[in-house]
Amino acid sequence: METHTFASNSEEAIKMGFQQEIDKRRTFGIVSHPDAGKTTLTEKLLLFGGAIQVAGAVKSNKIKKSATSDFMEIERQRGISVATSVMGFNYRDKQINILDTPGHKDFQEDTYRTLTAVDSTIVVIDVAKGVEPQTEKLVEVCRMRKTPMIVFVNKLDREGKDAFDLLDEIEQKINLTACPLSWPIGMGQRFKGVYNIYGKKLVLFNPHSKQESDAIEFTDLDDPELDKQIGESAAAELREELTMVKEVYPPFDKEAYLNGELNPVFFGSAINNFGVKELLDCFVEIAPRPLPRETEQRIINPDEDKFTGFVFKIHANMDPKHRDRIAFVRICSGEFKRNTNYLHVRNEKKMKFSNPTTFMASKKEIVESAFPGDIVGLYDSGNFKIGDGLTEGEILYFKGIPSFSPEMFRIVHNADPMKSKQLAKGLTQLMDEGVAQMFTKEFGGTRIIGTVGALQFDVIQYRLENEYGAKCTYEPMNIHKACWITYENEEQYKEFLQRRKRDIAVDKEGNKVFIAESAWQLRTMQENYPEVGFHFTSDF
Ligand code: G4P
Repeated sequence: METHTFASNSEEAIKMGFQQEIDKRRTFGIVSHPDAGKTTLTEKLLLFGGAIQVAGAVKSNKIKKSATSDFMEIERQRGISVATSVMGFNYRDKQINILDTPGHKDFQEDTYRTLTAVDSTIVVIDVAKGVEPQTEKLVEVCRMRKTPMIVFVNKLDREGKDAFDLLDEIEQKINLTACPLSWPIGMGQRFKGVYNIYGKKLVLFNPHSKQESDAIEFTDLDDPELDKQIGESAAAELREELTMVKEVYPPFDKEAYLNGELNPVFFGSAINNFGVKELLDCFVEIAPRPLPRETEQRIINPDEDKFTGFVFKIHANMDPKHRDRIAFVRICSGEFKRNTNYLHVRNEKKMKFSNPTTFMASKKEIVESAFPGDIVGLYDSGNFKIGDGLTEGEILYFKGIPSFSPEMFRIVHNADPMKSKQLAKGLTQLMDEGVAQMFTKEFGGTRIIGTVGALQFDVIQYRLENEYGAKCTYEPMNIHKACWITYENEEQYKEFLQRRKRDIAVDKEGNKVFIAESAWQLRTMQENYPEVGFHFTSDF
């Protein structure tokens, strides 16, 4: 009897420990247009958490701008950047996991996929440049997934757009509902600091200090002390602006933020480590704990006992002597344990992993166990593809890891008839890794490769030759879009397929895709076949 009591107590203790582990995790990504300050902000966050000791540690892993046309150099640096795939640190009582997203536009698809593994994001915007194209795309992806987003307006130490104008731009261009939780006092030469609306504190800027100055508690803005601190005219301006902020913007509502309907905004200067602490302090209080994940079968709750996880990124080693790949798995529920048998659902195969690894800010460690919200890297010899699920036996297919309609297309030809098998294998594996997408025309079997950036074509050609011994050439192709097709009216669908049979292809899962030559042609099809659906992502 006693033993029984003891056992159930300890089970309870384990369960509580498990809950605490989940409750403390905050897994997020930082997105921005290149140069807005993502790397700098990441670094300052890591410094706060004590994960790195000196600035520059992350920066050196960044793909350099100068290398934009040299894909070998980019791949080499991407190899180094495996080390920063996940950057973890503790702050207050939270364990924070930052998932790195490549800034280079040709690797945007990698970024989209990484966003499927986060629970929230921070969007960095340059105060002078405002909303830039890549920010627009990335925010769109986050919105599709209803990801809670916080905005950090960076580089207030420089002249930029007026705060109200910038928030207007954010609302109009990227459709966010701004809710300023800090407010800048001047900018550029006149930048005096921020008023932290969330924490009701005044934080003064000292450009020459490496450390942020202490925040001064300021619950009553009419306090004449404000005039003493920042001068009469700045104080008057701040009071007036904050009154307007109150009138124009909705009050902060945590639920609305968590539902993706309200977006807190902070202002600061990452390079000066200014405004970053306010952001982080608020983040640990409001950002979501690991969120449930959807599968075709059911919704997975992180608190479930049994382990589940999915692959969101595969990183291949470019060195032909070490052909291994690393599959990055997001833990969705239960506890992941080293050397334990799990089901690779798509392959219907049991697998166990002796060296699951974390890649934490330049430290590489074998992990014994991991919890929901964590990412583990699994060494893989070609078993995984993006989106694959691992479970303790349940058949679950994860949803919401879409392919996006690529932007550039070329027909791929085999340049060495003796190596057609190698070519086919190489192409399949590279597509599984998510380097690009391949569509095979139903009529004639032409293979079309679609990518987000031009660089991928070089990467594919090089890797086919070096890793698979196959050679390919490309033929340019004028394509506007590849759209996935669904239908409500079968007859109309069949007629459409019959009429456009030269333009129909299948993706790697066998889904039908319409290859539209021009925007005009696509529009005509949409008009002529209103009960056929044309989709720009594979997830509908
Ligand atoms: P990214 O990852 O989003 O591409 O941006 P990153 O952090 O690399 O920052 C881009 C440039 O902006 C860097 O300058 C960086 O120092 C600068 N920067 C970041 N935050 C601030 C800020 O708050 N104020 C100002 N004035 N500049 C900022 P760089 O010249 O490209 O690189 P570096 O030589 O300084 O490293």
